[in-house]
Amino acid sequence: MRINRVGLPLLLLLTSSLFMTTPSANGIERVKILAGNCSTCHGPQGQGYEVIPRIGGLDKDDILKLLKDFKSGEETSTIMDRHAKGYTQQEMEQLADYFSKME
Ligand code: HEC
Repeated sequence: MRINRVGLPLLLLLTSSLFMTTPSANGIERVKILAGNCSTCHGPQGQGYEVIPRIGGLDKDDILKLLKDFKSGEETSTIMDRHAKGYTQQEMEQLADYFSKME
């Protein structure tokens, strides 16, 4: 009982501090987390398939412009407008950089 009363709050504290440190992980790790959402559709190398376009290896500026235009609604899309809205300018830059470096 004594261990449980101390152990549980300690465990919760440790677990929550884990979650708190994840979003502020260094740039490279953080962009991998952000890109995980994109990879669900575009593939781990951004290769695309069927109706999903390839984004891996595209020019960084082109990816960034597309994302910004999806977000603003200037570029029409079925699904990308919704995804782009969830990212800040800085995060879109990181994602554009990340996918542009793929084969
Ligand atoms: C649910 C599936 C899905 C997810 C998740 C997704 N995309 Fe897309 N993406 C698409 C589809 C489909 C298109 C084609 C445009 C449209 O109809 O929405 C597209 C188009 C694009 C394009 C334009 C490619 C071109 O050459 O026209 C870029 C860039 C892009 N996505 C980047 C991303 C990034 C970065 C993420 C993560 C933030 C992401 N996508 C997440 C499905 C997805």
